Amino acid sequence: MSESFAAFLYLISGVLFILALRGLSHPTTSRQGNVYGMIGMGIAILTTLALATPSAGGIGLIIIGLAAGGGVGAYVARRIPMTAMPQLVAAFHSLVGLAAVLVAAAALYSPTSFGIGDVGDIHAQALVEMSIGVAIGAITFTGSIIAFLKLDGRMSGKPIMLPMRHAINAGLGIAIILLVVVLVVTESTFVFWLIVVLSLILGVLIIIPIGGADMPVVVSMLNSYSGWAAAGIGFTVGNLALIITGALVGSSGAILSYIMCKGMNRSFISVILGGFGGETAAAADDDIDRSVKLGSAEDAAFLMQNASKVIIVPGYGMAVAQAQHALRELADLLKEADVEVKYAIHPVAGRMPGHMNVLLAEANVPYDEVFELEDINSEFAQADVVYVIGANDVTNPAARDDPSSPIYGMPILEVDKAKTCLFVKRSLGSGYAGIDNTLFYKDGTMMLLGDAKKMTEDIVKSMD
Ligand code: TAP
Repeated sequence: MSESFAAFLYLISGVLFILALRGLSHPTTSRQGNVYGMIGMGIAILTTLALATPSAGGIGLIIIGLAAGGGVGAYVARRIPMTAMPQLVAAFHSLVGLAAVLVAAAALYSPTSFGIGDVGDIHAQALVEMSIGVAIGAITFTGSIIAFLKLDGRMSGKPIMLPMRHAINAGLGIAIILLVVVLVVTESTFVFWLIVVLSLILGVLIIIPIGGADMPVVVSMLNSYSGWAAAGIGFTVGNLALIITGALVGSSGAILSYIMCKGMNRSFISVILGGFGGETAAAADDDIDRSVKLGSAEDAAFLMQNASKVIIVPGYGMAVAQAQHALRELADLLKEADVEVKYAIHPVAGRMPGHMNVLLAEANVPYDEVFELEDINSEFAQADVVYVIGANDVTNPAARDDPSSPIYGMPILEVDKAKTCLFVKRSLGSGYAGIDNTLFYKDGTMMLLGDAKKMTEDIVKSMD
């Protein structure tokens, strides 16, 4: 295959990847988006193989690699529960980082196979690309492992704040940049591995001070890093498809991190500097009367059936309980009783962007009943009942009213403006940010303590 025809095919796969990203931006088009992505990746893989014309033995190795990687990926993807998706993504990113390190090492030890010069005489440009790729790859590798451990609960989500951590991180960053210069001049393999080791350490140190609540932003940031690492390696190995996909992953990850930060009203820098989420539970405000009104499924059924408008606010607890199907059943019964039903989604509800939309789509909730924060916030004042199911931080009025709250400024769903707020959760405990929710103690709030799925099913039964 000629180089120019290969470039043309890579361009087609790049366009398909862009269409995939576009498709994935809405539930109605996401399946189509996935198909575009798969076709694009298929074209990129086949073109690379056709260009490389590997030996029979090489082909065998590639097929074994594809079967092993594809098999493990398919097995894990089928088994993983939706709630564990963020940590799965983190785990996969760590592999992208590791791959970038291994490809760079291969290019250093065997430059002729990559067409970047001879041993001891590698082109300076390739050395720069390789060393940047390897540094970002190694940071992504260990950073993603720490993110995985925190998100999976194998490591505490609390920030670990080392003394002088900013100075240590800045020192390591400067040392890595200097070593990149030394590597370009000397081509020393020792310096190469020193960059790898320092970058691995930096990856750990950057992520440990970041609290669990900020981890989804970090995963998206690492996603972005892994894309840039891949693009850097793409330049080294002269592979257009890798450069295009790396740049797409790098920029879309950065945009996603920005959207999440905006949803939490946090600056990207404050997320990266860490320390958020270390506070435990109630930042007790003694002026508040902490008595709560407890209710039952029967109470909730009565209130909802007699309402003319009900807004449902799902959160992480709905995902944990897998309550979306019971919720759909509840909404159907309400609609049969001529109650207007809408769903309100906060941009950072759950643990990843679009988490709630995916679950509601799985339960066949019509898309036109699902509204984003800015489109529905003004409607809470006209709602008779708000059914908050497993959401917590995204409804906390402290974010709006209490300047001393760590989440002050985060946009919230203003559920406290409705006549009655039914709040389903298992306890009076705090949400992901570790902050007490003053909504529990308001007059219009009725707490329905229990598992979100069980409570919703009980409400459905009470409606018969
Ligand atoms: P959270 O504030 O984490 O609250 C979820 C609530 O669900 C918990 O308080 C928990 O209370 C309850 N719960 C858990 N399991 C349950 C079950 N089986 N049945 C009923 N309730 C259950 O969730 P949220 O309101 O969705 O907010 C998301 C949080 O994640 C925010 O702090 C946000 O900043 C953070 N975050 C999200 C993202 C993205 S992209 N989504 C990105 C960065 C940060 P109990 O234990 O009492 O049941």
